Amino acid sequence: SVYSISALILAYLFGSIPTAVWIGQAFYGIDIREYGSGNAGATNTFRVLGKKAGIPVMLIDILKGFTATNLAYFIGVSTTGNYHSIAFVNYELALGITAVMGHLFPIFAGFRGGKGIASLFGMVLAIHLQAALLCVLIFIIVLLITRYVSLSSIAAGFMYPIAVTFIFPVYIKSVIIYGMCICVLILVTHQKNIERLLKGKESKVNLFKKKAV
Ligand code: G3P
Repeated sequence: SVYSISALILAYLFGSIPTAVWIGQAFYGIDIREYGSGNAGATNTFRVLGKKAGIPVMLIDILKGFTATNLAYFIGVSTTGNYHSIAFVNYELALGITAVMGHLFPIFAGFRGGKGIASLFGMVLAIHLQAALLCVLIFIIVLLITRYVSLSSIAAGFMYPIAVTFIFPVYIKSVIIYGMCICVLILVTHQKNIERLLKGKESKVNLFKKKAV
């Protein structure tokens, strides 16, 4: 319907808000995409500008995915069935992925955005709290062991379909489709990171030191 198309457009616009680019420009006078990994995301903002900028970017980027996904409630049950139906969850996923596309290709920042991990997390949080918690758990474990944010993101991404399959087996078919798409998407956006990981050249985070080296 017109409503569901409008919600998808709105989701894309939400996702398109280039938080890292705007915060970098407004408060530090830099384009974050010219520093560090060149990525317009929370991780690179932490890396280049520290946690005072990194935390707000992370929270706002999560909120973008979360809000866009929850636009499903405006369309309501009339078109999709009840809030626990597979159709409704599929629509939530479509909205969330559309927001992630906005984050990757933001209309407000020359279509050069980030990798979508925070917005994907916002989406998962909006749909499946338990799965989101499991993804965070895997993210933290891999980060503590390896100190690679990119590898932690990839691991958390692969955890999503696995977690949903175990916790909500009723969604299994759509999870296979969307979950696979999300995993492929994460592999594509992290191509450069994967190359660096394989060469042993990926940058690590300092989890317990105050100053990054
Ligand atoms: O969320 C993006 C993260 O997985 C990698 O970011 O800046 O290290 O390429 P970055």
